Amino acid sequence: MRTIGVLVMALGACALATACSPVTEAPAESAAAPAAAPPAPKLTDAEKQAILASLPAPYNTGNLANGKTQFALCQSCHTITEGGPNRTGPNLHGVFGRTAGTHEGFKYSDAVKAAGFKWDAEKLDAWLADPRGFLPGNRMSFVGIKDPQKRIDLIAYLKVETGFQPAK
Ligand code: HEC
Repeated sequence: MRTIGVLVMALGACALATACSPVTEAPAESAAAPAAAPPAPKLTDAEKQAILASLPAPYNTGNLANGKTQFALCQSCHTITEGGPNRTGPNLHGVFGRTAGTHEGFKYSDAVKAAGFKWDAEKLDAWLADPRGFLPGNRMSFVGIKDPQKRIDLIAYLKVETGFQPAK
């Protein structure tokens, strides 16, 4: 039963990510590997919950499934996977704690380059509520998300999916 659970979680993690990097390295001594050890999923549900809990309130209450739904508004312009390409907007992997306007290889507007802060839940919330009003002169052509709960859910999803790793 445990094996099935882990597999289902692995598939779930895979379905959540926009791109699943296949783990291709074969274990050197597969004969010695315990039978019930499939390739580790990117994040277990417990790890996701730990990451979620690391957010300040109310973001730690975000609904990850709804956050994924909200991310559909962003994904034409943004990837979130590690090493993902820049599209119209920059790759958002590791965006939490990243200084605004500093992702490699992306040409930002002066407005974002001059922002001078690191992205956190509150900053993202203000940005996503009203991108134009928060950093006037920026080039993100996105009207914003009016519903605070949708932003909370999206921020929770981004925190979990953009590569934050809880301390072991
Ligand atoms: C139409 C394309 C488009 C859409 C849709 C869009 N963005 Fe953006 N985003 C951009 C562009 C372009 C920039 C860079 C803006 C600039 O330099 O002025 C940007 C910048 C950002 C930044 C700042 C990144 C950094 O490195 O400082 C974040 C965070 C962000 N977007 C999140 C989102 C989220 C979350 C959504 C979905 C709710 C979204 N964006 C929707 C195009 C888009």
